[in-house]
Amino acid sequence: MSTDSASPSPSAVAQSFYTRWAVLYDAIARQTPGVGRVRTDAADALRLDPGDTVVEMGCGTGANLQSLAERVGPEGTVVGIDFSPGVLDVARRRVGDAPNVHLVRADATRPPVADADAVLATFVSGMFDDPAAVVSSWADLVGPGGRLCLVDLAETTHSSWRRLNPVFRALVRATAPPRTRTMRASPTEMLNGRLVAAHRELETRCVDVRATTHALGFARIRAGTVS
Ligand SMILES: C[S@@+](CC[C@H](N)C(=O)[O-])C[C@H]1O[C@@H](n2cnc3c(N)ncnc32)[C@H](O)[C@@H]1O
Repeated sequence: MSTDSASPSPSAVAQSFYTRWAVLYDAIARQTPGVGRVRTDAADALRLDPGDTVVEMGCGTGANLQSLAERVGPEGTVVGIDFSPGVLDVARRRVGDAPNVHLVRADATRPPVADADAVLATFVSGMFDDPAAVVSSWADLVGPGGRLCLVDLAETTHSSWRRLNPVFRALVRATAPPRTRTMRASPTEMLNGRLVAAHRELETRCVDVRATTHALGFARIRAGTVS
């Protein structure tokens, strides 16, 4: 009989899940209707200048990396951090030999980066046990004047589209890493709670905060300047 101590950690489960499904995830991450616009708006919200250093936490298969690299230019730096080797392999193929894009296998809750001008995290907050603490540490990383941008999915509050929330819940359940499907809170409740915690912390740590919803209200972008 297996015991808890013999079970893989949630982090190990997530890494093997994203490694196994990297190619399929990549197609979803780039081809879902409306997602390209969300990614462009998020990159714009960072207000990057040529020469900046931007870190993408949980960069996955690298759907944002090229547009970040274009914004910081050849004199800038893009660092993509992810803990799942399979998605990083896809990201590496995507960025090719771009000299200013660096991909690092590491834990985004303890990124091995000393300094940056901006941090982007798209569809990642829901994976952290304590998203507020993680966002706060990212605010410390970029320091006053640095930019943070979070993009996350949650149930829509738009009156016309609320009827699609059951479909959203089914999709979240189907695509959640295995262990999260058996927790007491449903994967969607967990996602909603973590989104709120992460975005509230960004509000606390930043000024000049701008929040927008996209994709029928299911995608939330929140960006600000650390105070
Ligand atoms: C839903 S995917 C999003 C990927 C990408 N940001 C995008 O927009 O397509 C979540 C990603 O976060 C990564 N991830 C989750 N927790 C992490 C952590 N603590 N450290 C590093 N990567 C993490 C997973 O490996 C996965 O690639």
